Amino acid sequence: MLTTYSIAMKKNEKLIELRNEARLGGGQKRIDSQHSKGKLTARERIDLLLDEDSFEEMGMLVKHRSNLFGLDKQHFLGDGVVTGHGTIAGRLVYVFAQDFTVLGGSLAEAHAEKIVRIMDLALQNGAPVIGLNDSGGARIQEGVVSLGGYADIFYRNTLASGVIPQLSAIMGPCAGGAVYSPALTDFVMMVEDTSYMFVTGPNVVKTVTHEDVSSEDLGGASAHSIKSGVTHFSHANEVECLDNIRNLLSYMPQNCEETPEILAYESGDESRPKLADIIPDNPNQPYDIREVIDEVADAGSFLEVHKDFAENIVVGFARLAGRSIGIVANQPAFLAGVLDIKSSQKGARFVRFCDCFNIPLLVFEDVPGFLPGTDQEWNAIITNGAKLLYAFSEATVPRITVITRKAYGGAYDVMNSKHIGADMNYAWPTSEIAVMGAKGAAEIIFKNDIKNSSDPEATLLEKEKEYADLFANPYGAAARGYIDDVILPENTRSRLIKAFKMLENKAVKLPRKKHGNIPL
Ligand code: HXC
Repeated sequence: MLTTYSIAMKKNEKLIELRNEARLGGGQKRIDSQHSKGKLTARERIDLLLDEDSFEEMGMLVKHRSNLFGLDKQHFLGDGVVTGHGTIAGRLVYVFAQDFTVLGGSLAEAHAEKIVRIMDLALQNGAPVIGLNDSGGARIQEGVVSLGGYADIFYRNTLASGVIPQLSAIMGPCAGGAVYSPALTDFVMMVEDTSYMFVTGPNVVKTVTHEDVSSEDLGGASAHSIKSGVTHFSHANEVECLDNIRNLLSYMPQNCEETPEILAYESGDESRPKLADIIPDNPNQPYDIREVIDEVADAGSFLEVHKDFAENIVVGFARLAGRSIGIVANQPAFLAGVLDIKSSQKGARFVRFCDCFNIPLLVFEDVPGFLPGTDQEWNAIITNGAKLLYAFSEATVPRITVITRKAYGGAYDVMNSKHIGADMNYAWPTSEIAVMGAKGAAEIIFKNDIKNSSDPEATLLEKEKEYADLFANPYGAAARGYIDDVILPENTRSRLIKAFKMLENKAVKLPRKKHGNIPL
């Protein structure tokens, strides 16, 4: 006869058995197959992502409820997604990781409910949510409930936007409408060679447009980090990707009501003499703005976002005396740092993220203007350039600009000028703040003098110099107070540390509205 004790033991054994079954996902064979593709399992990913032993799983014993197309004979505990909460560097995060070993990580009713549950908890408790995506999409056997499940997630992605940080790592397939959940989140990461995202795959593409393209070329990490900008980070492998999520999170607060953690910082000699040697004597010669960023920011703190997309603008997180800041900088080393459609979109999105989450903004400006041409005009540089203008204008976080060289035309206004609400604008002595470059200006306003001159070339040079002497400097803008001070490059870091400290309690109220209408 069984004693009370042995009945309890049996019940415990049952639980252990169920847990072990759940941990095996779709079984050892499928786990081996996952490894053979160079991919980790959902649980291995979570272990690498979170602090050791911090993961608390939820819904481990959840099963699907469908009996169609053979599903009555296939019940996998957890229904293809591992969900729960844990910590990263001691901070609470919610996480879901799709398990490709279970029905290809496909999303169905119960699977979606588990994701929705942790998203609701993340929103209610003000903590970031991280999605590790690896899925064949809607579970084909379950039909419309899968589509409903996706929409339930999309809705929550939207509600959570701007309230808690949402990060998505794509670690396998992500196709069809499934792409829209990551697309609604703040940052998307991909892994080279093992992940892809597309709305329609190569077969449909072939049928509709007769293009022959591989999954990798159509929607791999390179395609989306270089061409479309859908992904913000491309990683060589999953371990690097998970490590980057941990790092990225360190620059953000838990939610929109908080500010990012300030790391301990011991002030020392903040002058940076190397900054004085970066700007070339020839104003048309390029230089890498990252050199300026690296010198100004705390050593090794710059984390570039969207590194390979629209390289004419550089954006990313850094620290200044331990404080998290967002940097937006024109890049003279690529297309002379001109603003175009993609760079405006890239800059605007980043500015809005920083503003949502109370991350102060630092702008380095060296911009010859907006890119001319039919391609830009017909693809709406007007609407897209306006995105950047709008994003800066509505941002209420502390905002500082340093003009290193050119601040020409409308781009002067757009790149966080004081006229659109920036708190401080500084200029280096090498700055040129004008409607346009001296040569172009002279050609227009002295057109007749040049045409009627006995030596048009010499007259152009003379007029160019006249214009440059007047405008190719920061002093006209400084005289009007548009520039708060002209500063020596080597003092930039110390001036910025003081200015951001001065602005730390900034409070601005925008006019009351439901929400603005950014030119999308
Ligand atoms: C059910 C699926 C599945 C799915 C894969 N599986 N996708 N089961 N629903 N959507 C199962 C497979 O049957 C297989 O089961 C296991 O997952 C692994 O799949 P494989 O094909 O063996 O793996 P692989 O060769 O790596 O190919 C992966 C894949 C392929 C490219 C993702 O499985 C595939 O094309 N799947 C279908 C993708 C798709 O069309 N999804 C619907 C998209 S529409 P076993 O038992 O053999 O292990 C959509 C709409 C969303 O998602 C709309 C939201 C608004």
